[in-house]
Amino acid sequence: MPVGQSCRAEFGWEYMRGFTVLKQSEVESSKRLSNYSRCQWMVLFMVLLGPAVGADQTDLAVDQQMTSLQLQARSTAMSLGSELKSKLQQAIAKDGLAHAVEFCHLNAQGLTRQQAITLSTKVSRTSLKVRNPANTADVWQQSVLEDFADQQQQGIPISAMEFGEISEQDGDSIYRFMKAIPTQGLCLGCHGDSIAPEVATRIQQFYPDDQATGFQVGDIRGAFYVEINLSRD
Ligand code: HEC
Repeated sequence: MPVGQSCRAEFGWEYMRGFTVLKQSEVESSKRLSNYSRCQWMVLFMVLLGPAVGADQTDLAVDQQMTSLQLQARSTAMSLGSELKSKLQQAIAKDGLAHAVEFCHLNAQGLTRQQAITLSTKVSRTSLKVRNPANTADVWQQSVLEDFADQQQQGIPISAMEFGEISEQDGDSIYRFMKAIPTQGLCLGCHGDSIAPEVATRIQQFYPDDQATGFQVGDIRGAFYVEINLSRD
């Protein structure tokens, strides 16, 4: 028999009205605890477990929101990655490595900003060793990058390294996400440890404070950063 019907049959609707009535009934029936009916147990369980189930549902909603933000941020980071890589390959193929430095200098920031899907999204790249000082990590980004470096020590693959969390900033709720970028063979001509003189000259010309050399294939070159302001549309 459905719970509602069985309880109505046993206690009438009065019983279902709430906790106070249940408490009263508990007092009455405390002397005959062992005789609790199936319905009494059920109602007691519902009252006791209700808050726990509610908390679970809230957790579930938060988890779902985090998962969907993470998917959105990850796909933004990955499409920026493939966009930059294919434009870089085209520039190298067309004019050679030294000219491609100029291409990156002129286009990397703009292409990165374009990737922001809405006005409330920000996208950038950062690293513990930057070429462009505009990409310098803030405190939060620095701690995530250091955590990625620790993960690499533990043998975790770079492709699996990402981190996202919601924090409050100036009264707004902000989701911040980072995804690690591996160093590949293609990167070494401009970020490796033996850079051709004409390429090095170009790099020095545009980035006199360059720190982004000396990387090897398999090192973490840096990370994509995606920020979504949840308080704005
Ligand atoms: C043709 C030279 C060149 C090649 C090849 C190259 N980069 Fe860069 N990279 C640059 C320049 C120039 C910048 C600075 C762009 C700017 O002004 O934002 C840069 C900046 C970056 C940054 C942003 C952080 C920083 O140091 O300022 C990351 C991350 C990065 N490169 C990753 C890579 C990866 C990964 C590869 C290989 C897939 C790669 N780069 C290949 C020239 C190059």
